[in-house]
Amino acid sequence: MAEVTPWEVSGEVDYDKLVAEFGTRKMDGELGRRLVSLAGEDHVMLHRKFFFSHRDLDLVLKDYESKKGFFLYTGRGPSGPMHIGHLIPLIFTKWLQERFKVNLYIEITDDEKFVCKKEADWDHIQKAAADNMLDIAAVGFDPERTFIFKDSEYIKNVYPLMLKVAKKINLTTTRAVFGFNDQTNIGLNFYPAYQIIPTLFEKKRCLIPAAIDQDPYWRIQRDIAESLGFEKTAAIHSKFLPPLSGMAGKMSSSQADTAIWLTDGPKVVRNKVMKYAFSGGRATVEEHRKLGGNPDVDVAYQWLSILFEEDDAKLKKLHDDYKAGALLTGELKQVLVDRLNEFLAAHAKRREHAAHALRQMTHEGKLARKMWETNHVE
Ligand code: TYM
Repeated sequence: MAEVTPWEVSGEVDYDKLVAEFGTRKMDGELGRRLVSLAGEDHVMLHRKFFFSHRDLDLVLKDYESKKGFFLYTGRGPSGPMHIGHLIPLIFTKWLQERFKVNLYIEITDDEKFVCKKEADWDHIQKAAADNMLDIAAVGFDPERTFIFKDSEYIKNVYPLMLKVAKKINLTTTRAVFGFNDQTNIGLNFYPAYQIIPTLFEKKRCLIPAAIDQDPYWRIQRDIAESLGFEKTAAIHSKFLPPLSGMAGKMSSSQADTAIWLTDGPKVVRNKVMKYAFSGGRATVEEHRKLGGNPDVDVAYQWLSILFEEDDAKLKKLHDDYKAGALLTGELKQVLVDRLNEFLAAHAKRREHAAHALRQMTHEGKLARKMWETNHVE
């Protein structure tokens, strides 16, 4: 049985079942086409159906067309360094911001990461937060339209509004939605109020790009937002980038060897992919040449298809050659290694120059300055 919560994803995830269980809607072709047409360009994660589900994306597009507008919100829990999976929603968010020219809020949940694990250490989390924020700034958001804030720092601006939210959520709800129980500390019981707050930063509809593990918060938000005078939030959900070890679960910080960290150098990337990436190949080269491999379970192929090979024709050729046995596992893995290393080198380069943009997005830019002057009380 798969388990999907904001803190744990394990087992073979059945995405159709999640859509039914969470009460979201599958992205259909028509909605995808409308999004692409308004954006004026397609995105690889859309046409490969990696973003597969949504809530009220149709209403977001309607608000955009009617000039009412919308805004974006996403986040990161700074438990340690970031892996490639964490960048996925951010890359897609950057694209949305660029295409629709909208404000974006990014929440850094140091409080959540402190209360959710017994062994979590405050100083370690603070270091991770500073480090993660630089990685996030390196994605290249619009510095004038982006506000990145750390929960423990921004709390005084949002506490009154957060109390209004907290008053609407009782323990029966947090138990049902997140599986909290008698042993759950009261910090974690209160935290969901904070993750809901940025959806109320503007009196417009909010659109949240994230993997589907974060959806339980949006379910609660949608139950209470209108009673507080705000819009129900919308969301667009991605699947999980699988760990190198196989298709079950998500790439996760708790399994260091099967994740690719943003700081992994070219040799480490090669070793990890060659050693750990689950292969759809045959036991021997002879058998593989004769019978062919299975790209559908091959993690290198899956990663290429999600993001790292944007060209449909090239991807199809990899698929067909692998299936026919003309392309060997080592060769397919090498294609991924090269792509990953190009991607990581470009990220590292942008990161070196991201400090200025980060200052703008946290304090000095137009949106950041406005947010520090706001107290979020009616
Ligand atoms: P966190 O730090 O666990 O994850 C950050 C973002 O990365 C997504 N994610 C993945 N996406 C694809 N493949 C994976 N293997 C993978 N692993 C993680 C998560 O869905 C998330 O979007 N509580 C949140 C922080 C947060 C937040 C938000 C996230 C606060 N507000 C609003 C999204 C939207 C957390 O700890 O995320």
